[in-house]
Amino acid sequence: MAELSRRNILKAGGALGALGALAVAAPAQARPWKWSPAGSVLGTGSGADPRQVWDAEADPLVASLLDRGEVPRVNDLLRTWTKNGQPLPAGLPADLRDFMEHARQLPPWTDWGKLDSAVEFNEKRGLYLGVLYGFASGMMSTVIPKEALAVYYSKGGANMKRRISKTAKLGYDVGSRNAFRPDGEMIVTSVKTRLVHAAVRHLLPQSPHWANAAPEDIPISQHDMMVTWHSLPTTVMRTLREWKVPIPAGESAGFLHSWQLSGHLLGIEDQYIPATWEQADSQAVDVLDPILAPTPEGIKLADTLLDLGAGLDLTLLSRPILGALTRFMLGDTVADWLHIPREPVWGTLLDVAWGPFIAVREGLLPLPMAPDAYWTFDELLRQFVLLYMSELRPISIEIPEFNNPN
Ligand code: HEM
Repeated sequence: MAELSRRNILKAGGALGALGALAVAAPAQARPWKWSPAGSVLGTGSGADPRQVWDAEADPLVASLLDRGEVPRVNDLLRTWTKNGQPLPAGLPADLRDFMEHARQLPPWTDWGKLDSAVEFNEKRGLYLGVLYGFASGMMSTVIPKEALAVYYSKGGANMKRRISKTAKLGYDVGSRNAFRPDGEMIVTSVKTRLVHAAVRHLLPQSPHWANAAPEDIPISQHDMMVTWHSLPTTVMRTLREWKVPIPAGESAGFLHSWQLSGHLLGIEDQYIPATWEQADSQAVDVLDPILAPTPEGIKLADTLLDLGAGLDLTLLSRPILGALTRFMLGDTVADWLHIPREPVWGTLLDVAWGPFIAVREGLLPLPMAPDAYWTFDELLRQFVLLYMSELRPISIEIPEFNNPN
């Protein structure tokens, strides 16, 4: 089958929009779950419809912690737990400690050789990853209806900048040199996030705002998790391919592996985690592409994201440029859904000069054709990295106790 890029699909326009809206309105059971666990990292599984599966271990446990009023104490204790190799803090409730000791273990299919290749990938492509996680994955999350609703009505929705910095921590940790090693932080970040998601599953159904808007009773199913997963590594890889960035097969497999492990640690069942890029791409066509659609909540979240650079000394991260980047990366349909205005100067510059810029950066073209555009784009990438390093300085991920009060 010819490769369908996200942008081309989205450029197809209205038909997809109608399809997306339909998928959201349709009951979850309407389309049978087709993807076979034979394509998963485990190569086998029950094949249960992931729209009906949540997190059987973490959900009852965190619900019980909330009911027992133990979450503030647990958050205090877990603030000191930051490194993968660090013992869990003393004093955690026994049921939580037992769960975390088990949840922090890497699966038997962990491949350290592949993780070394992931380090190479991240070092060589790190400059692109800021803009890709932020403005391909981050913006895409605002047109994933169920995620947009969950985020908007949960506690973090009240302070988007804080929330973004916590999510950026995960992007930063997964790409760091020692991500899964004892001195890294990705295992800690993922296990804490797994607890946060379990809390959200207990709390959001109590929010009248969410209950009125959401098409489901319990948020963040395994299916939803995979949708968001594809908005991250699959979307990043699709975009890099579209930009014609040459990536050696080993490094591409390494990057995938770092996200397979992240999925596992976030509580995604191994039977849903794709084993290869081919499997990931085929699953994304089923789970991600058809569900993208605008919601009032997502439009508001996107509006906040466009102001991410406001008030900072990062002149290229202005609202019009970030808008043009979104349109360039996610296509006209999504940009129009999000009411992002067309930006003639930057839009044209990106359309015309981004391809040659990448080719020069990657050593595929000898010299910048338009040196000014080249250095502007290079500076743009650098400012994204600065944004992550300074403004979005990681803060501790904590279990929420309530929803967005607004
Ligand atoms: C919290 C990442 C899937 C909704 C978080 C946090 C991270 C994260 C790092 C902690 C940040 C914070 O405390 O604000 C991820 C990743 C996912 C994923 C990597 C999949 C691979 C989902 C999905 C949904 C969702 C599918 C909803 C459909 C939320 C919500 C919070 C949260 C509502 C809580 C924010 C709060 O404290 O109010 N997620 N997430 N996430 N996530 Fe996810």
